[in-house]
Amino acid sequence: MDLSSRISSFQASPIRRLVPYANEAKRKGIHVYYLNIGQPDIKTPPQVLEAIRGYNHEIIAYGQSEGDEELRQALPEYYRQYNVEVKPENIMVTTGGSEAIQFTLMTLCDPLDEVIVPEPYYTNVGSFAKGAGVVLKSVTSRFEEGFSLPDISEFEKKINDKTRAIMICSPNNPTGYIYSKQELQQLLDLVKKRDLFLIVDEVYREFCYDGHEFISALTFTEYSDRVIVVDSFSKRYSMCGARIGSLVTKNQDVIDGAIKLAQARLCPPDIEQTAALAALQTPLSYIKEVQGEYQKRRDFLVKELHTIAGVDCSMPKGAFYLIAKLPVADAEDFCLFLLKDFSYQNQTLMLAPANGFYVDESLGKDEVRIAYVLNEEDLRNAMLCLRVALEEYKTRE
Ligand SMILES: Cc1ncc(COP(=O)(O)O)c(C=O)c1O
Repeated sequence: MDLSSRISSFQASPIRRLVPYANEAKRKGIHVYYLNIGQPDIKTPPQVLEAIRGYNHEIIAYGQSEGDEELRQALPEYYRQYNVEVKPENIMVTTGGSEAIQFTLMTLCDPLDEVIVPEPYYTNVGSFAKGAGVVLKSVTSRFEEGFSLPDISEFEKKINDKTRAIMICSPNNPTGYIYSKQELQQLLDLVKKRDLFLIVDEVYREFCYDGHEFISALTFTEYSDRVIVVDSFSKRYSMCGARIGSLVTKNQDVIDGAIKLAQARLCPPDIEQTAALAALQTPLSYIKEVQGEYQKRRDFLVKELHTIAGVDCSMPKGAFYLIAKLPVADAEDFCLFLLKDFSYQNQTLMLAPANGFYVDESLGKDEVRIAYVLNEEDLRNAMLCLRVALEEYKTRE
């Protein structure tokens, strides 16, 4: 029997679709370094785990659709650290930042409406957009320019009467770019001029390096009725499996619209919201330490990549990903080779082909996204494998 044409049009996630091959390599006894996915090896803060162990309700009951009251009351203080003034009613707790993206697209857009994204972009947005019948239009940010914001006129050219929003991610997955105050201002001026929304995925706000400043789009108060922020506890407190995120906006109509979706899915996970509340007590020292660790890994990875013949990458300012250009014509084929046909000292690595992070299917074919979520020793081994694999692959081509 046929499935929907909608589901047939989805791409399998470029981050996860090679997993069966990695599983097969593991079955053969090969150690796989997973640099394809943003699953940090950083320990979750202990008080988060204690909160889960201490959950002592007699019933794990449904909670409020908009999220646990105590958590929503506590979040404004967290945002205040970033000069964002919001009230609990501006915050909806979601099942991960993923659900906040879905809710936002479903709330703002009708089928065939358009959202403009700079590419490469967070690839799962593509699936959420397809699910909502939303068409993504892209403006290409350039490897050579460190993936900074393309000229604002490029965005303007893409706007038509179907356009509802521009969506960005800062610090960026997959490029590591952090949009500057001036770039945000340009985008905000444009969305105001053309009466659009600006959706900003800020889930990596804690991960900024070299003193690069993170500026939340919500600090531009003059525009705050058209700004929607997607947020998540996943990366900040290394609690990806807890599935807690939030949608934050001062536009009450958006919250009132999204609540209908929230009610339909009943509530976000309850035990995990208890954990999220505890996570907000995490000392700044934890965040600083984690930041320092990622910066070290980034420096190491960038240095290593630049010593491999034909490989190039730009220096990411934040998040924990980078896009690397490889001396291969088809990075997807090379990623497959790494898992199916290669091992060095019984080890290999898994990377995400970057082509799937572009809306324009002709782009990113020689690029991979690398997540520097492993410790330096593992990164060193993974880079050694990459170096040897590229040599071996060349002789096959
Ligand atoms: C940019 C970005 N946004 C949102 C998410 C979704 O995060 P979660 O659903 O785990 O909160 C991710 C996960 O990797 C991400 O990288």
